[in-house]
Amino acid sequence: MSDKIVLTGIKPTGMPHLGNYIGALKPLIERAREYKTFMFIADLHALNSVHDAAQIKQHTYEIAAMMIALGLDLNNAVLFRQSDIDEIYQLNTLLSNVTPKGLMNRAHSYKAAMDKNIAAGLDTDAGVNMGLYTYPILMTADILMYNSDIVPVGADQKQHVEFARDIAGYFNNTYGEIFKMPEPVIGADTGLIPGLDGRKMSKSYDNTIALFAPEKELKKKIMRIITDSKTPEESKDPDTSTIYQLYKHFATGAEIAEFAEMFRAGGMGYGTAKTILFEKINSVLAEPRAEYERLMANPGEIDEILARGAARARAVARETMARVKKAMLG
Ligand code: TRP
Repeated sequence: MSDKIVLTGIKPTGMPHLGNYIGALKPLIERAREYKTFMFIADLHALNSVHDAAQIKQHTYEIAAMMIALGLDLNNAVLFRQSDIDEIYQLNTLLSNVTPKGLMNRAHSYKAAMDKNIAAGLDTDAGVNMGLYTYPILMTADILMYNSDIVPVGADQKQHVEFARDIAGYFNNTYGEIFKMPEPVIGADTGLIPGLDGRKMSKSYDNTIALFAPEKELKKKIMRIITDSKTPEESKDPDTSTIYQLYKHFATGAEIAEFAEMFRAGGMGYGTAKTILFEKINSVLAEPRAEYERLMANPGEIDEILARGAARARAVARETMARVKKAMLG
């Protein structure tokens, strides 16, 4: 067990798909067996785009239930709701006073919104609220609050972690060594995880399989995976097959080798290969899916786990805020 602290936030914006599971969630859960981990549902971060409380609440339950059902180690991992920690709003306000406005102007997410507006012939800031504009400050508050050493993120979030380092640096230069320097860790290279049409699995391509899709839907989706038109007898290349590429992430080494051999040998049709893939994924996910459904039917249990997490997180947050207030306000 390392003494490094890992921190990660997951925005509650709908059920993740198998690509998210393989690329991000599974590695997070594995890391949480080794490291003290703060894992929160970033409901405050969802607010800049979602203005429907019922939807945020529902998605927050879904993410929490999902992480618990996937076997997150709740001793090492502190699982909580971002908005439950009042200190986070406070640190956000205080950090905004050492954050240069120019830094926010350079944020990829804000620049992307401006570019879209310019392309559409609109005012550059149309539809941009201050939540979106100052998003990186709130994320910095998350990261610095819990004394994080390691922040695992997707490549799209790397700049935000670099901003957190910049802001920690400005703060420490002004007020003394109050904050630790966090390191971004970009997810393990799982290679491209293909969706139903063979392109990267992504909501924007509408080619995803939801992580906890009911068994019937899972089967239907897998049967819809696009293949080439080789006959069952023909030899097939596993490495260009979506079926095999997905199978690899759920099976053991020996099973993977055997499946590859069945592709190459010929004699296995794609229908059979899809059935084998379905059975494998289903056998891995059936138990967590049932636990997920059980938790979603018992939200009180999720509330309890989140309340316990919030109490643990708040203990750290209170200490950090005491240090920061003393440094800034005497
Ligand atoms: N911004 C992240 C996302 O959109 C979520 C997030 C919020 C986060 N706060 C964080 C991730 C702190 C890592 C650390 O995915």
